Parts: sequence; structure tokens; C-alpha cells
Amino acid sequence: MSDIDKEQESTTPSKEAQLLAACYEGDHKKVKGLVKQGAEIFVTDGTGRTALHFAAASGDVETVRFVLESGVPWNSLDVGNYTAGDYAENDGHADAYNELVQAGIRAELVLRMLNADSVSNEKAANEDYLSQPVEYSGNKLVDAEKNGVMMSWEAPLMELHAQAICPSAGSTVLNVGFGMGIIDSALQKLNLKKHVIVEAHPDVYNHMREAGWHLKPSVHIIFGRWQDKLDEIQSHGPYDGIFFDTFGEFYKDLDDFHRAIFSTRDGEQVPILNKPNGIYSFFNGLGGDHKLFHDVYCHIARADLLKLGITTEYVQASSDIVMDEETWKGVKRPYWMIKSYNLPICKWQLN
Ligand SMILES: C[S@@+](CC[C@H](N)C(=O)[O-])C[C@H]1O[C@@H](n2cnc3c(N)ncnc32)[C@H](O)[C@@H]1O
Repeated sequence: MSDIDKEQESTTPSKEAQLLAACYEGDHKKVKGLVKQGAEIFVTDGTGRTALHFAAASGDVETVRFVLESGVPWNSLDVGNYTAGDYAENDGHADAYNELVQAGIRAELVLRMLNADSVSNEKAANEDYLSQPVEYSGNKLVDAEKNGVMMSWEAPLMELHAQAICPSAGSTVLNVGFGMGIIDSALQKLNLKKHVIVEAHPDVYNHMREAGWHLKPSVHIIFGRWQDKLDEIQSHGPYDGIFFDTFGEFYKDLDDFHRAIFSTRDGEQVPILNKPNGIYSFFNGLGGDHKLFHDVYCHIARADLLKLGITTEYVQASSDIVMDEETWKGVKRPYWMIKSYNLPICKWQLN
């Protein structure tokens, strides 16, 4: 190789650098051409941005689609912890964002099918949490590893959830997961006929008793995992309103809970949620550390609920979330990083 050739080689950008640049320009023809010529699509730049981050920033749907179809994961994160969805949204590219959400839904559904027969250790994760101490400290409840189990910044959201599941006085309601009792305190202001609370953690249960919750006239406490207490839960129902907010559980547990409350059980005429007027809601922290993941899971949850005959409306609550640098002090990991909250209101689908 001559000196001139060598100099030219060092100044010509690599195929991969050209590929990222073409993604950023949203030039799908060029992107496809470069891949055909052997450019590696699984390339990242110095800050961990993938071809998908660049394509999303361009807003060109065809480039985004091509990069996804080439196998770049929809949920890639750069070193700043940003998804491709963040890049699309920052630049106002709604169609490109939606393409990413659709890819996420498809990928999650495929994953679910692949995992259908595998043995899960999810019960173990919840039991692990339940076997270790928790600590109430000021504005939060934390587990043994300082994960935030419940935090007071959620209080305005809990007020909204309480109102959503209890639109009129004299209702019978069920809350699964006491935590700091924020939603239960809000529910107590609503003149309930019966207020059933399910709580599985011994420390939380003791805290409830010390605070005299078992003495409140409308309250009935069920101590144990909801999974093990379905008959007792059913015996106090049917419920006009149900709220679900546990800890150390996964989407599969939420889905199992939905199957339990929306189906008739063992000869019962009515499901646990009163039919047809009952209202159900859950703490919607699904994928709460990234908006893209959250949006994918909101879609999946709504589709799964619809299969059970339940409609879901997500009501936006944004002004109610107040966070600053103090909010996450003393907890291991922020579990909510999204500006607006999608409060689910679930009802029986009318025929
Ligand atoms: C996020 S906190 C609930 C916070 C509550 N919404 C409030 O307003 O303070 C979750 C609670 O669910 C309880 N929990 C976890 N797994 C459970 C299970 N399988 N059954 C019943 N309760 C459970 C935890 O011990 C914890 O008290």
C-alpha cells in the first residue's frame, strides 16, 4: 500500500461510522446499501448509541424499521441509560416512537411464548423479600437491601387511585399490599361499608396492628400472600373496588391476580370484582424506569385484561408527581423516572 493510500484509509470514515451517520440522516437507502456492503449493524459509538438510537433521532420510520428488522434490540440503552425511544421523543418523532413501541410489544410477546414452559423463580423472589426485615424511615419504607418498597412521593397518586376504585360511599373495597397505608388512609375518608386489606409481610402486619388498623370499624385485615388467601378474599366480597400494589412481584403475578379476580371461582356465581359495576386499578409502575418500556407494558397489560373481558382506560396524572434530587436519597434504585403517570381504570366490558 502506498503512503497516499495509507493516508486516504486513515481519513475515510469506516463503513460503520458511515452507517451510523446514514441512520442519523434517516437515509434508509444508504443504510441498506452499507449493510449490503458488509457494514456491521451491531455497532455502537463512544457513548453506547446503537444504529437504532441514531435512526430514532432521525425520525425516519423506514430506517427505524430496517434497523429493528436487522436485529438491533428495541430496548438497547446507551451509556447515559437512554433508549432509542428517548431520542425519538426528544425530537418529536411520534411515528418513529410508535414503531419502537410496536417492536417492543412483538418482542415481549415472542419472549413470553418462548418462556411459557420454563420454570419460574418468581415466587422465590417474593418469598425472599417477605423473609427479610423492612424498615419504616420517615418518608419511605425500604427492604433489607434499601430498595424502596413504598415512598411518600406516591401519596397524590394513591389519593387518585382511592377515588377511582370508590366512586360512592357505602362501598366494599379490597386493597392488596398495605405498605405505608397511604391508599388505605385515603380510602378510610370515603365512608366505606367494608375495607379489606391483604398484607403478607410480618413487619408490615405488625406495624398495622401497632397503628390500630385492626380496630377500625370497617377494616378487615387478611395476613398472608394474596395467592394463598383467595378463598378468604372471596368470602368478604364481591368488591365494588379493588386496588393492587405489591412488592417483589412481577408482571406474571399481576396477570395471575387479574385471572383470579375477574373469573368465577369454584362454584361462585360472581367473580371477586363485582359484576358489572366494579372498578379495579393497580399501581402502574410497569417498566417505570424508562418511558419506552412503560408504554410497551401499558399496551400489553391492556391487551391481557381485554382477553379477560376487562377494558382499561389510562388516565394521565402528571402534575401530581413532585420529585427533586432529595426524592431518591437513601434508596438503592429509582423505580420511577417518567414525568406522567398512567392511572389504570379497569371495568367490565359491556356487551
Ligand atoms: C408498594 S407497597 C403498597 C403501598 C400502598 N399502596 C400504600 O399506599 O402505602 C407493597 C406492599 O405489598 C406487600 N406484599 C408484597 N407481596 C405480597 C403478596 N404476595 N401478597 C400480599 N401482600 C404483599 C408488601 O409487604 C408491601 O407492604
